[in-house]
Amino acid sequence: MDVLVVYGTVEGHTQKVAKFVATHLEEQGHSITLHDSNKKMEGLWVPSYDAVILASSVHQQRHKGSLANFILSQRKSLAEMPSLFISVSLSIAFEGGHNEAQSYVDHLFSHCNFEADTTLLVGGALQFDKYDYYMNQIVEHIVLAEHELVSEDREFTNWEQLARDLDEFVKLENTKSV
Ligand SMILES: Cc1cc2nc3c(=O)[nH]c(=O)nc-3n(C[C@H](O)[C@H](O)[C@H](O)COP(=O)(O)O)c2cc1C
Repeated sequence: MDVLVVYGTVEGHTQKVAKFVATHLEEQGHSITLHDSNKKMEGLWVPSYDAVILASSVHQQRHKGSLANFILSQRKSLAEMPSLFISVSLSIAFEGGHNEAQSYVDHLFSHCNFEADTTLLVGGALQFDKYDYYMNQIVEHIVLAEHELVSEDREFTNWEQLARDLDEFVKLENTKSV
């Protein structure tokens, strides 16, 4: 399959997720185009791809605006092709955080009037060296408010699970196209 992977990142962890997705699918013989939603991509023609994978991190309860803009501007094409949405947040990494993490996705889909065929809620990362003072305050007092205080960098992404979920998505889409 020719797969378009579009991502929105602030500190870079979702870019790492998108690159993992690309490498994993390329190893299985798929052809991947990676696109940072913050940048212009010359000659991008979404309907030319067999499937699309969208990925964005969450900050202050919202996915990245540039990824939302990509969905809004390409909604018609996206609705007609197999799609997977990967939401990267810290809520999903904490016990009892599933509903909160899902609510971010519900808001995005409702805002964009679009729903991906499959959605994955994936744990993000803490990268304190990339935060300015107020970002640090938000992470400490809002994002981590009711959780154990973590003060060093930590990655919460379950890469093995992500690989299994990607395999499942590809298998499903291959079955549909047979
Ligand atoms: C300022 C700030 C606000 C955040 N707000 C939320 C939030 O509201 N909910 C959440 O689950 N995670 C939140 N996070 C965690 C990010 O989603 C997580 O760090 C993610 O890995 C960032 O990915 P990125 O590096 O691709 O931007 C926040 C992180 C920062 C730095």
